[in-house]
Amino acid sequence: MAGMKDIRNIVILTGAGVSAESGIDTFRGGGLWEQHRVEDVATPEAFARDPDLVLRFYDMRREAIQTRVPNAAHFALAKLDREWPGELLIVTQNVDDLHERAGAKRVLHMHGEHLCAWCTACDERSPWTGPLIDRPACPECGAAALRPDIVWFGEMPYRMDEIFEALERADLFVSIGTSGAVYPAAGFVRNAREFGAETLELNLEPSQGTHWFDEAHHGLATELVTAWVDEMLGA
Ligand code: NAD
Ligand code: APR
Repeated sequence: MAGMKDIRNIVILTGAGVSAESGIDTFRGGGLWEQHRVEDVATPEAFARDPDLVLRFYDMRREAIQTRVPNAAHFALAKLDREWPGELLIVTQNVDDLHERAGAKRVLHMHGEHLCAWCTACDERSPWTGPLIDRPACPECGAAALRPDIVWFGEMPYRMDEIFEALERADLFVSIGTSGAVYPAAGFVRNAREFGAETLELNLEPSQGTHWFDEAHHGLATELVTAWVDEMLGA
């Protein structure tokens, strides 16, 4: 990228596309939301109306992601995280743990995590790998009040203050494998620009906000991300 020598602080936004080549369905374009209505499984109203349906949907997803493994894009980002001397933050909309399993440390899950349960009685979050459908007891308080620790439509994404602080300091904002359909994540490119960062999109196809980026490359995440990381590390 032009001006790369001046880049010290990087914010990377990832979406479902970065995990697609690991065999995890994306949401749009033939993905999950074509098989399930969002309103039936991914809203607080759906959970109040039919908790069994929602819990079964997330139990299935939680089980499935544990059989998947990180791909070359996750590994390349983990390498960048290890070797980049400046600030770096991977803000992911993904609820899988493939960034971490590839070795990345500086990861923020703005939409929650499949492998975590949230107790609506005591408000504690606990690591969770099994099903929730049988209403297991919260490891902290014992109440049978656990829900998936997933941010549903209409709820507030996590750690927005930290994300904005990082965007404010960023010299480069990179968006990888996201359609740009869901706010506030879809607006980060414009926020980053306003704060003075260069912006780069790496996605299979032009995202909904592709015109906001200074530079965009379209193709597979495993190929584009690997090449970009090599460029950043001067390999
Ligand atoms: P909305 O208002 O219900 O949701 C958007 C809000 O939900 C945002 O402010 C965001 O903060 C919040 N949100 C929190 N966590 C989220 C998460 N995990 N996934 C998604 N949103 C989360 O819905 P909207 O504003 O009408 O729609 C936002 C976008 O979502 C639209 O551009 C649309 O493309 C998409 N959407 C798609 C489908 C579908 O594919 N079937 C259904 C609903 C919305
Ligand atoms: N390499 C790169 N990009 C890819 C690949 C790939 N192998 N496969 C798919 N993509 C791209 C698609 O072209 C699409 O633009 O990844 C993008 C995935 O978009 P979505 O399915 O909309 O996923 P995402 O942007 O992460 O969704 C945002 O919506 O419902 C919510 O909470 C959910 O976090 C999610 C949010």
